[in-house]
Amino acid sequence: MATDVHRPVTGPAVRVEGLTRSFDGRAVIDDLRLDIAPGEFVALLGRSGCGKSTLLRILAGLDRDIEGTALVPRRRAVAFQAPRLMPWKKVWRNVLLGLPGRPERARAERALEEVGLGHRVDVWPRTLSGGEAQRAALARALVREPDLLLLDEPFGALDALTRIRAQRLVGELWQRRGCAVLLVTHDVEEAVLLADRVLVMDGGRIAHEQPVGLDRPREITDPRFAALRARLLERLGVDTAAAAA
Ligand SMILES: Nc1ncnc2c1ncn2[C@@H]1O[C@H](COP(=O)(O)OP(=O)(O)OP(=O)(O)O)[C@@H](O)[C@H]1O
Ligand SMILES: [Mg+2]
Repeated sequence: MATDVHRPVTGPAVRVEGLTRSFDGRAVIDDLRLDIAPGEFVALLGRSGCGKSTLLRILAGLDRDIEGTALVPRRRAVAFQAPRLMPWKKVWRNVLLGLPGRPERARAERALEEVGLGHRVDVWPRTLSGGEAQRAALARALVREPDLLLLDEPFGALDALTRIRAQRLVGELWQRRGCAVLLVTHDVEEAVLLADRVLVMDGGRIAHEQPVGLDRPREITDPRFAALRARLLERLGVDTAAAAA
């Protein structure tokens, strides 16, 4: 069945029911259910190979070989761990890549401005730092004015400081834009810092769901933050006592 597309006036931004995706007869996603509310920020954790990227690709409409239902907004955008910029196109052209019609340069400029790259509009991708390239990829997603923003470990390759800045930027963009976000990450702190709700995927399904009822901006020094982090690590099968020893 193909990925169905809908834009409900009310109801969830994402509705996934009975979703199954198999590779060579092995169900990587197995009867998965997931709703995401409009404007909700959801983080998705899970061990390597559990099917997070597979789910994201389905929601992005990049993989239609599925059973079950995956309803997503028509306007959606995706950013991956690697920025995937075309080296032979200047940054602003990369941002507009794949948009229908002949979009104006000003649209790219606005999106680049929004991610703090207003001064890098006219350069070649190879002259960008890792963090800048990732922000350009984010601009390319934002220029689509998505109702659903899909992020697959977008900060995975960044150094610690750049990563913190990029996390903050995504939090701000989300609050300003009001779109729903599904963020795949390996970083439990990142998930608790940014998300309204954290999901843990296992066995091809959402095995655990953790609402994060903390006010923003969040402080990792908050004891409630540490408690949520510990609970999620436990769900991921990480022995926190052993890790701390
Ligand atoms: N096109 C494909 N053909 C065959 N197997 C695939 C394909 N895509 C994914 N898989 C398999 O599906 C499983 C889930 O892969 P997926 O990339 O979704 O994992 P992941 O949770 O994103 O892992 P990671 O955290 O390492 O990125 C893996 O066992 C992978 O080998
Ligand atoms: Mg992945």
